[in-house]
Amino acid sequence: MIENRKFDHVSIVTEKDVNAHYNYWNDVHLVHNPMPEIDYNDIDLRTEFYSRKLNYPIIIEAMTGGYEGAKIINENIAKVAADLQIGMGVGSERVLLKNKNVENTFSVVKEYDIPVRIANIGAPQLIKQKDEQISDDEIYHIMDVINAHFLNIHFNFLQEIVQPEGDRNSKGIESRLYKLCKNFPVIAKETGAGWDPNSVLKLKRAGILAIDIAGMSGTSFSAVEYYRAKERNDKRGERLGITFWDWGIPSPASLIKSRDLGIKIIASGGIRNGYDAAKAIALGADLVGIAGHAIKFAKIGYEELKNEMELFIEELKSAMFLTGSKNIENLKKRKTIITGNLKDWISQL
Ligand SMILES: Cc1cc2nc3c(=O)[nH]c(=O)nc-3n(C[C@H](O)[C@H](O)[C@H](O)COP(=O)(O)O)c2cc1C
Repeated sequence: MIENRKFDHVSIVTEKDVNAHYNYWNDVHLVHNPMPEIDYNDIDLRTEFYSRKLNYPIIIEAMTGGYEGAKIINENIAKVAADLQIGMGVGSERVLLKNKNVENTFSVVKEYDIPVRIANIGAPQLIKQKDEQISDDEIYHIMDVINAHFLNIHFNFLQEIVQPEGDRNSKGIESRLYKLCKNFPVIAKETGAGWDPNSVLKLKRAGILAIDIAGMSGTSFSAVEYYRAKERNDKRGERLGITFWDWGIPSPASLIKSRDLGIKIIASGGIRNGYDAAKAIALGADLVGIAGHAIKFAKIGYEELKNEMELFIEELKSAMFLTGSKNIENLKKRKTIITGNLKDWISQL
């Protein structure tokens, strides 16, 4: 059942270490400016995303909804997103099409004044699998439930491969996307394995508004499915989960290779703090997304998440000060130094 799966995901991510074994943001460095010539108090972090105004270039990424305990988590995130005027996504709304009773676990977010609200549905469900294929009318409905400004189409074929009886047909995705983009403001989002430049060009041709990188470096859905498989004593799932734990394109490599392709970018996958966020923006991201790190606080409570996000913002602002960046546009122009394995990825991708 989808409801149980969504509950398991939050439990596993908050209780076990499901991160990729190497975080490639460690291979990105900003250059210290000993004479920044700016006043910390004048630093302006405001930005715009398709005319939506945000106080900070931050999104709390798609994670949950669809089971009883998800309502309070989404509400905690929504309150913080409204307080700070940052964006938020909800988890996959596929469950809504089968179970109306869980609608309030998503719709709670529309009670808050959030500048960027993003609905969510999986790419595999847009094409014919065993029996279902989501219609445009159903997509209008899931957007309506949260009064969404944008629609995340999430690509999670890594997870579909590791989990038992996942949706493994991907034929026809591109043409459905072409049609969908005519009617909906689509963001194409990975879920931990990143985007390669060829796919980004295809997405651009299809008419999507932005990509959400969600690359390898943070939450590994192969790792999450490994723990679920272990619980069920599913030897196949355990084996594939371990083998593909670190599968994917490192988030900063995916970002660097996508940034000159003329598309807006939300950088995510392994963002742990405001310094990582500053690196992502200096590398060319328009917004930065966090998921796995945020859910740990969102599950505890609103105050805890708010405190954490305020610290996150202070780190981002500090990195801006130390690089002499008065605003987000300045930060985008700052030099970055790339070291370690990331350098190899960039030269060969
Ligand atoms: C508990 C949990 C549930 C998630 N569920 C979804 C989902 O339903 N839809 C989606 O697009 N992404 C989902 N994701 C993926 C995140 O939005 C994000 O892209 C990914 O975890 C990488 O970011 P991170 O390394 O900061 O966690 C989920 C992530 C977590 C941690």
